[in-house]
Amino acid sequence: MKVLVVGSGGREHALCWKLAQSPLLTKLWCAPGNAGIAGVAECVAIAADAVEDLVAFAQANAVDLVVIGPEAPLVAGLADRCRENGIRVFGPSAAAAELEGSKGFMKDVVAKAGIPTAWYGRFRDSDSAKAFIRAKGAPIVVKTDGLAAGKGVVVAMTEAEALAAVDAMMGDKVFGAAGDELVIEEFLEGEECSFFALCDGRTALPLAAAQDHKRVGDGDTGPNTGGMGAYSPTPVVTPAIEAAIIDTCIRPLIATMAALGRPYTGVLFAGIMVTAAGPKLLEYNVRFGDPECQVLMARLESDLLPVLVAGAEGRLDQISLSWRDAVALVVVMAANGYPGSYEKGSVIGGLDAADAVEGVTVLHAGTAQKGDAVIATGGRVLGITAIGADVAEARERAYRAVDLLDWPGGFCRRDIAWRALAR
Ligand code: AMP
Ligand code: GLY
Repeated sequence: MKVLVVGSGGREHALCWKLAQSPLLTKLWCAPGNAGIAGVAECVAIAADAVEDLVAFAQANAVDLVVIGPEAPLVAGLADRCRENGIRVFGPSAAAAELEGSKGFMKDVVAKAGIPTAWYGRFRDSDSAKAFIRAKGAPIVVKTDGLAAGKGVVVAMTEAEALAAVDAMMGDKVFGAAGDELVIEEFLEGEECSFFALCDGRTALPLAAAQDHKRVGDGDTGPNTGGMGAYSPTPVVTPAIEAAIIDTCIRPLIATMAALGRPYTGVLFAGIMVTAAGPKLLEYNVRFGDPECQVLMARLESDLLPVLVAGAEGRLDQISLSWRDAVALVVVMAANGYPGSYEKGSVIGGLDAADAVEGVTVLHAGTAQKGDAVIATGGRVLGITAIGADVAEARERAYRAVDLLDWPGGFCRRDIAWRALAR
C-alpha cells in the first residue's frame, strides 16, 4: 500500500516510524516532513495546509491511504476533499473537526450527549460575559471559541483575572477572530490525562491513556507549551477510570456525532480531568496529541496500517489491538527561548549516539537537513522516546540519550513523569 502522511512534527515522525514497519507498506510519503522523517519516508515539499496540492499529489501518485496529523488541514476540509475524490483517508470531515475548531460547538454536543463536563456559557458580547463571571465567581475558566494555537485558555484564580481575560480576548482581540465568541466554564480540580480512540463513524476502538506536561518548566511551572513530554500508561487512569472514560466520554460522543449527521472518523483525543467525582471531559481534539502520539506508537504492538485502513473503511468493529507490556516516555527537547521567541538554525550533534541507547528512538519535531548537519527549525525540535519495563527504566533511558546529544541551543524538562514516580 502507498501511504501519504500529512504534517511535519514529532507526531508525524512517530506515525511514519510506525507505518514504515508494516509489511503491507510499499511506499511512504510525508508532506512536508522533516529531517528525521526523511529517514523512513520520502518527504514531499507540500505544506500541511495546502489542501488542493495534497489532493492532487495523492491522485497523481495513486495513494491508497492519506493520514492527516495536524488539526488545521482537518478543519480546512482536507479529509472531505480526499473522500470527494475517491481517496481513502483516515481523519474527520470539517463538520466533525468542528469539535476542535469551535469550543462552543463542542460544549453544545457534549451537553446533548450527556457527557460529564464543566458547566459553561457561550458569549458574543463582553457585558454578558462579565456578568456571568461576576455571578459565578472565581476560580473560573475563560476560553476563546476558535483555534488559538493552544493559547486561548485562561484559568483564572480571581474574578479580576477572568474579567481581564474577557477584555484581552474580546476587546483587544489578542487571538483575532478566535475571540469573537467566548466559552466561560467551571474550574475543574483533579489530575489531567489524555485518552485516545480510533473511530470510524460508528465504532470507537479505544487506544490508551497518556499524560502530557504542558508547562515549560520543571515542577509544572512557567508558560504553557504544546507539550514538553509524555508517558503512557499513566497510573491515574486505573482500569475502572478507563472504563468510565470510554463509557461516558467516548461512546456517547460517537453516537451523538452520528445522530447529528457529522459521523466522526479519525483519531479522537479526549482531554480529561480525573476529579473526585470521576472523569470529566475538558475538551476534544480531532487528532493525535503531540507528544502523546510518540508514546502510543512506541507501545503499540499491532501493525498500524491495516488498523487505519479499517478505520477509513468503517470496519473498526473487526479490529483488536495488542500492546507491549511496557511503559513509554518521551522527553521533548526545545530550542532555547521556547515557547517565547527562539533561535533557529542551531546545529544538533550526537543524534546517532542518542538513538543507539537501548529502547530509545529519537523522533524529530522541528528539524531540517543542512549539508551534513541536522539543524533546529522549530520551537519543539526533538522527542527522545524510550520504552522500558517500568516508568523509572523508560525515564532513565530517555535522559541517558538526552545527555548524549550535543546541542547547546536546546533544553528539556528534567522531571517528565514526576507524578507517576511520586505515587
Ligand atoms: P484546553 O486548551 O481547553 O485543553 O485548555 C488548556 C489547559 O487549561 C488544559 O489542559 C487544562 O490544564 C486547563 N483547563 C482547561 N479547562 C479547564 C477547566 N474547566 N478547569 C480546569 N482547568 C482547565
Ligand atoms: N500535547 C497536547 C496536544 O497535542 O494538544
